[in-house]
Amino acid sequence: MKQLDCLWKNGKDFLTTEYAIMGGAMSWVSDHALVSSISNAGGFGILACGAMPPELLDIEIKKTMEKTQKPFGVNLIVMHPKIQELIDVCIQNKISHVVLAGGIPVPDMINPLIQKNIKVVGFAPSSSIGKKLIRQGVNALIIEGSEAGGHIGPVSTSVLAQEILPKLAHEAPIFVAGGIGCGKMIASYLMMGAAGCQLGTRFVCAHESRAHPSFKKAFINANARDAIASVQIDPRFPVIPVRALANKATQDFVDVQRLVIHEYEQGNLTQKDAQLKIEHYWAGALRKAVLDGDIEHGSVMAGQSVGMVVSEQSTSDIIQELISQANEFFSTLSFPSI
Ligand SMILES: Cc1cc2nc3c(=O)[nH]c(=O)nc-3n(C[C@H](O)[C@H](O)[C@H](O)COP(=O)(O)O)c2cc1C
Repeated sequence: MKQLDCLWKNGKDFLTTEYAIMGGAMSWVSDHALVSSISNAGGFGILACGAMPPELLDIEIKKTMEKTQKPFGVNLIVMHPKIQELIDVCIQNKISHVVLAGGIPVPDMINPLIQKNIKVVGFAPSSSIGKKLIRQGVNALIIEGSEAGGHIGPVSTSVLAQEILPKLAHEAPIFVAGGIGCGKMIASYLMMGAAGCQLGTRFVCAHESRAHPSFKKAFINANARDAIASVQIDPRFPVIPVRALANKATQDFVDVQRLVIHEYEQGNLTQKDAQLKIEHYWAGALRKAVLDGDIEHGSVMAGQSVGMVVSEQSTSDIIQELISQANEFFSTLSFPSI
């Protein structure tokens, strides 16, 4: 439809795709199968490198290239201890777009990529950081609100969109993420100046997603309110905020914090060791839920849009549904005459 094509032209040109819909990288979920299916369906699939070593990323990229001729991106976590080697793997494989996630990328990460004409996408938690990233050469930004699944910031998508789009949308393509489950929402953010949108939660239950059947079932059964942000009980011991479905692990996490803090107060643990114990609690938890299907003891990362995941569908059906909802939104836009 005309409106959609016109509104997300910048996003489509940037991604070189049919639709400016990014399949947000999801650690353990976004492998070659899901990523290639999103790209083959006209969206932009993004491989999640997560904690993968460079050799595995190389294999995963090559497998994706075997399954699609369409463009796809790679998401790298900037705190990864081998980030420079991972960047080299992307360069060697002539990846077209790299998303630098999990923190603010520094010029040593951005420069080698842009020197090789690889498009770099960064996350902007505020307009000042977004401006800085653009100055440093980042080609496009994602603004991701706290409704999203996985690691989250403190501000909602709607507030980020209102604050950041008017300031930065004319400087670089901006993709909005977090809490988007329906094409009408995509249409609304495009009307506010977004170049496109990024969705994660909606793609977890794609037929092509490798997530364990129990993980998918948990998504299908969940409501928006079940996707909760991790609870921190003591400001001295910060907890990395993650949105996931409430389960035994999220309940036990509160007790673990209580116990560890008690040990610290008794002088049995240093503050550093206590902090490490709290952080260590979630180690391996996402893999346990996604691949082993242990949805009680693992981390079932999910966004609030999980309530809009009602069945398993093919990736292409999910994308077509989003497109027709967006088109329906434009075709029903009407204003009462005064
Ligand atoms: C299970 C899961 C794992 C995720 N892993 C990552 C990741 O490795 N890197 C990243 O940048 N974002 C990650 N995300 C966030 C997604 O890429 C995406 O931005 C987010 O899901 C969009 O919000 P939504 O969940 O409301 O659609 C993850 C999200 C989920 C649900």
